[in-house]
Amino acid sequence: MKSPPEFPTLETTRLSLEWIIEAHASELCDLFSDPELHRFVPLEVPTLEQQMERCKRWAKGQSPDGKELWLNWAARDKNSGKIVGHFQAGVKDDGIASIGYVVARDFQRKGLALEALQAVFYFLHKDLAVREVKAWSDTRNQASHQLAQKLGMTKVDQIKDADFFKGATSDEFVFSKVLAPGGAEQ
Ligand SMILES: CC(C)(COP(=O)(O)OP(=O)(O)OC[C@H]1O[C@@H](n2cnc3c(N)ncnc32)[C@H](O)[C@@H]1OP(=O)(O)O)[C@@H](O)C(=O)NCCC(=O)NCCS
Repeated sequence: MKSPPEFPTLETTRLSLEWIIEAHASELCDLFSDPELHRFVPLEVPTLEQQMERCKRWAKGQSPDGKELWLNWAARDKNSGKIVGHFQAGVKDDGIASIGYVVARDFQRKGLALEALQAVFYFLHKDLAVREVKAWSDTRNQASHQLAQKLGMTKVDQIKDADFFKGATSDEFVFSKVLAPGGAEQ
């Protein structure tokens, strides 16, 4: 297992992807205060205390058992100075990463998730030798599926009754992208 990366901030044209630390808790609480963002995931709007706990956990860069890298970035819009998104990746020793993504509703449909995740894919491939990126997404979550496809991911599986939350069963699609060996993922 590789060591947690040294708090890398990733820069894109419009965003700074800041490595999340405890000091991000309040701004992230604002971002996550919109219940619509959690419609297709088993999460609720967090309290500030809960978000502080999460940030503390995320800042360590790895799972408590040390078996997985946990990478979490808060996306700051360079123009407004606001935190407008959260991007995460879990990386296992077998070179397979899973990703998660959220963009504030006021900033959606501007290509920001695409821009951020292209930078994340590049980092995962170049710095952490990740060979495959996967995403699990509720089958009702159209925006997420379209985004995965724009990122060059393909649907490789469907899991029936993957979860149950908010009063309904959740089926999931699994998306995957194999990163070119030795090549630069852009
Ligand atoms: C999924 C999400 C992160 C997309 O963020 P975004 O910044 O709006 O995405 P982008 O603007 O980069 O869009 C990239 C492509 O995804 C697709 N897309 C994004 N939002 C869409 C929507 N609401 N409906 C259909 N397609 C959509 C489009 O193909 C888009 O490209 P286009 O605008 O050139 O057609 C955002 O909708 C979100 O935060 N949703 C709630 C959280 C969530 O469900 N996360 C996924 C959990 S698995």
